[in-house]
Amino acid sequence: MAIISDDEGLEKRVKRNPIVKSETIEYDNLFESNIRPKDFDSYIGQSALKETLKITLEAAKRREKPLDHMLFYGPPGLGKTTIAGVIAAQMGVEIRITSAPSLERPRDIIGILMSLKGGEILFIDEIHRLNKVAEEILYPAMEDFTLDMTTGKSQTAKTLRVPLPKFTLIGATTKAGELSSPLRDRFGMIHRLEFYTVEELTKVVMRTAKILEVDITEKGAEAIARRSRGTPRIANRLVKRVSDFAIVKYDGTIDEKVANESLDILKIDEFGLDNTDRALLSLIIDKYDGGPVGIETIAAALSEDVRTIEDVCEPYLLQAGLLQRTPRGRKVSPEGFRHLGRKMPSTQTSLFD
Ligand code: ADE
Repeated sequence: MAIISDDEGLEKRVKRNPIVKSETIEYDNLFESNIRPKDFDSYIGQSALKETLKITLEAAKRREKPLDHMLFYGPPGLGKTTIAGVIAAQMGVEIRITSAPSLERPRDIIGILMSLKGGEILFIDEIHRLNKVAEEILYPAMEDFTLDMTTGKSQTAKTLRVPLPKFTLIGATTKAGELSSPLRDRFGMIHRLEFYTVEELTKVVMRTAKILEVDITEKGAEAIARRSRGTPRIANRLVKRVSDFAIVKYDGTIDEKVANESLDILKIDEFGLDNTDRALLSLIIDKYDGGPVGIETIAAALSEDVRTIEDVCEPYLLQAGLLQRTPRGRKVSPEGFRHLGRKMPSTQTSLFD
């Protein structure tokens, strides 16, 4: 079973083909599919989730019942799609991967539901972006495995109940808080994926380097891990970039020096921040005295959209303690000032900000 990637191209690709069968997807990046772990042993990190899932999967197999619907949430790149693929492989079932923005019309979601086979997994990425109509179609589908279809108009309208095969919905979101409660309540398991530790990411880097046949030392892997913002997708991307440097500018092996020098050239600092992250912090410091300032203002000034800032930049800056969220907007923390080598203005210490 092959799993398609949850990279930035997914939304566009599923728009072209909303029912994405794993075998029929065109891989735009073969590397990506090769380095994705396919079982629990090769999936590094998220140990609490893995332990729970192993029990849940075993119980479902013994009962010969489909798995409960599951919701995975957390910042992008932590392995929500990957873990869904591991679950499908462990259960020996197909996974259909789609994304909420491609389920605009009722017939999009109805088409997918009607084409599912018993036991299959339907994966909906960015599930917080489902529209109301699609959500309402999903409620009876999730709860009773039926589709309630209305035919005719007003007084003559009839509701037709169409049985569906017993499937498992796996939803993924970066914003669990934006899910409506009726939808959230229909998931039997809700789990937050955590940022990875440097130790875990070092293992991810070593594993990826081995698959890609890249020469690397443990210290080189750790140096990449330290600058990967707790995110395996970033770590894997950096392995490829640093490996290019190792081949062209050094002797081909990634050691600590090669990793650090290459990452410096790529402008990824010791915290893993890139130019956009630093521009965001500098903007708040230089133009708004460290904040607080609203997210829309920040996005407009950086010519980025609010969603990219909220979903991609902010989670790690918040987790790393460089940025703070306050009722009046975003503020750079004392640590954030220190990281950029700036002095805090004295007015920043107000208790009420
Ligand atoms: N590549 C991406 N995520 C991974 C993970 N959790 N474990 C191993 N390799 C990965």
